[in-house]
Amino acid sequence: MDRAVSIFNTCPIRMQIMTKSLALLSVSFVAGAALVAGPVGCSRDTRPTETIATMDELPTEIRSAVLESPDLKLGFAVYSRNCVGCHGVTGDGAGPAADRLTIQPRNFTTGVFKFRSTPNGQLPLDEDLHRTIRQGLKGSSMPAFEFMPERERNAVIAFIKLYSPKWKTEIQNRQRVLLPSAAPDNLLTEERVWRGRFAYVGMGCQHCHGMTGRGDGASAFALRDDWGNPVRPYNYHRGAPKGGATPMDIYRTFRTGVTPMPNYQSSTLGLVTRDLKPAVFGSLVPEEQALIEPYVDSLPTQAEVEQWSESAPERYEQYSDERAWDLVAYTLWLREQSKPAGKHSAAIWPHRAASGEEEPASGQPSTGSETQSAPAQDPTTPDATGSNGN
Ligand code: HEC
Ligand code: HEC
Repeated sequence: MDRAVSIFNTCPIRMQIMTKSLALLSVSFVAGAALVAGPVGCSRDTRPTETIATMDELPTEIRSAVLESPDLKLGFAVYSRNCVGCHGVTGDGAGPAADRLTIQPRNFTTGVFKFRSTPNGQLPLDEDLHRTIRQGLKGSSMPAFEFMPERERNAVIAFIKLYSPKWKTEIQNRQRVLLPSAAPDNLLTEERVWRGRFAYVGMGCQHCHGMTGRGDGASAFALRDDWGNPVRPYNYHRGAPKGGATPMDIYRTFRTGVTPMPNYQSSTLGLVTRDLKPAVFGSLVPEEQALIEPYVDSLPTQAEVEQWSESAPERYEQYSDERAWDLVAYTLWLREQSKPAGKHSAAIWPHRAASGEEEPASGQPSTGSETQSAPAQDPTTPDATGSNGN
């Protein structure tokens, strides 16, 4: 919340809640506190210091809906206190604080969302919205409303749905992407991490995320999201992923896609086979090739995998799923590598730790051309592009 607080402390807005119903409601205060309290000592700012969110400012249709429903009234109250400064009273993401933010607040009127358990382009499930609001989006200014009561979260979710007609017309189409119920045990093994590295390069993740995962691939600087805003690929070495940092979170995010990152389906993951070896090894230094080789040679050929897709669909799905988990393991491992010494989780190489052996000598996978030293920065430290610090 550092960012949110500092934004509001430098005074862009003063919220005055004017609706009658609001005074009566006890509304969660967590991230909205600074917002509602308004600026203190803000002489430098030349902009209007007052923004008043009233029911009157709501688009007519939305206002009528709100007036008819106590739940939506509560939803608007929660929104006014906690969200309007960024997401705006018309829900277009252009609240008074928005022009100070590098990563723009979501425009709710388009009905497009990044973090979903549903395929790219579909509306998210309610549980996705709950997670976003509860956990926030790390590395952006979207705060975590950790202590907001569920009733208020339900209400504000119902309220923001009023901003896009898609929530009436397309809600039936929502399909949950098939997600496993739990991550495999013992995810961070050497085998998985190195195969993950192989899949990473084989699938071209480096074009956006860069060879070492620093978010500096060849296409990294030209990317725009579905709203036309520039967006940088995730830097694996800096800060938590927005959609959550557990293995399941990372699996879900990259299986379902985050505009402009495509979603990775089984048909794509199924292309990660031994046949990719010449192409992948072409971009790796010999030391890294040697580390990866044993785990790649045991992969099946493309022809074998393709055959499963016809004759043994379950096996094919399982194979693709394993490749997805390899990528999750690689992601988590890169994150671990960037933690300052002493903060490494002991579980990185469990089998080695148990036998008292040392960690792999070569450390982080390398292109040979880039410096590999881990930044002396805690990866939970917010990204420079703005952050909630939670
Ligand atoms: C300090 C600014 C700020 C405040 C306050 C704020 N948000 Fe956000 N919110 C953002 C930003 C920025 C994003 C977009 C982040 C991104 O795209 O990476 C966002 C994105 C979202 C998303 C979209 C997630 C997705 O999957 O695309 C939802 C839903 C959301 N916010 C809900 C809320 C609600 C509800 C509140 C109030 C309870 C709120 N936000 C308060 C800045 C804010
Ligand atoms: C077309 C460019 C592109 C490609 C290719 C790409 N990504 Fe991304 N990825 C992005 C962008 C952009 C983001 C950041 C989105 C955001 O912050 O809103 C991202 C974010 C992520 C995140 C963090 C998500 C979060 O919750 O914040 C992970 C993990 C990730 N990518 C993994 C991968 C993997 C693994 C591959 C290859 C299989 C891959 N990406 C390929 C562009 C790409």
